Amino acid sequence: MLEIDPAKKLSFNRLISNADLVIVYERHDNMKAVTNRFGVFKHSEWIGKPLGSKVFSNKGGFVYLLAPTPELWTLVLSHRTQILYIADISFAIMYLEDVPGCLVLESGTGSGSLTTSLARAVAPTGHVHTFDFHEQRAGSARDDFERTGLSSLISVRVRDIQGGGFPNEFAGLADAVFLDLPQPWLAIPSAEKMLK
Ligand SMILES: C[S@@+](CC[C@H](N)C(=O)[O-])C[C@H]1O[C@@H](n2cnc3c(N)ncnc32)[C@H](O)[C@@H]1O
Repeated sequence: MLEIDPAKKLSFNRLISNADLVIVYERHDNMKAVTNRFGVFKHSEWIGKPLGSKVFSNKGGFVYLLAPTPELWTLVLSHRTQILYIADISFAIMYLEDVPGCLVLESGTGSGSLTTSLARAVAPTGHVHTFDFHEQRAGSARDDFERTGLSSLISVRVRDIQGGGFPNEFAGLADAVFLDLPQPWLAIPSAEKMLK
């Protein structure tokens, strides 16, 4: 798959291209993520328009085509688990001091709501390594990160973090560790080992 420069993919100042994911915004309580595939969804007239454009239907209604920012993605993603929302995510990222270039370890991945914001915080040179012991959930998150253009910033692995801890290859390398697990205390000794 064609890798797009994450800094460009995260920018609002870009034109919609073929196969881009956009958030179709009708009202604050009616939004959905749509992949703009030429010819499939008959959305070809969206291509070349700036993100934020208002587009009209042939019945006179309209929607806005918005960038899939982490804030909006959190509102439209498919819930495979409970998720963190932006108020808590903002606090967590500020408290973790995640900035561009950081290496972050996260478990569990869940629906990838937090992961998406972590990736934006560490872009374009950092990386998020996220772990979930549920294979299907990890796979769905990986697919979502491809769709939102964040896959070069995020690696998803299947692993029991409560049972086995984080992989030793990250010992002493992590700028931050975030745990959203049923028994997070079981992973604390490993988290301590991973931190710089
Ligand atoms: C509440 S969800 C995380 C939600 C995530 N923070 C988000 O914002 O989308 C908890 C996740 O932890 C995973 N999990 C539970 N026990 C685990 C373990 N021992 N090792 C790794 N992942 C685990 C679950 O499969 C689930 O996906």
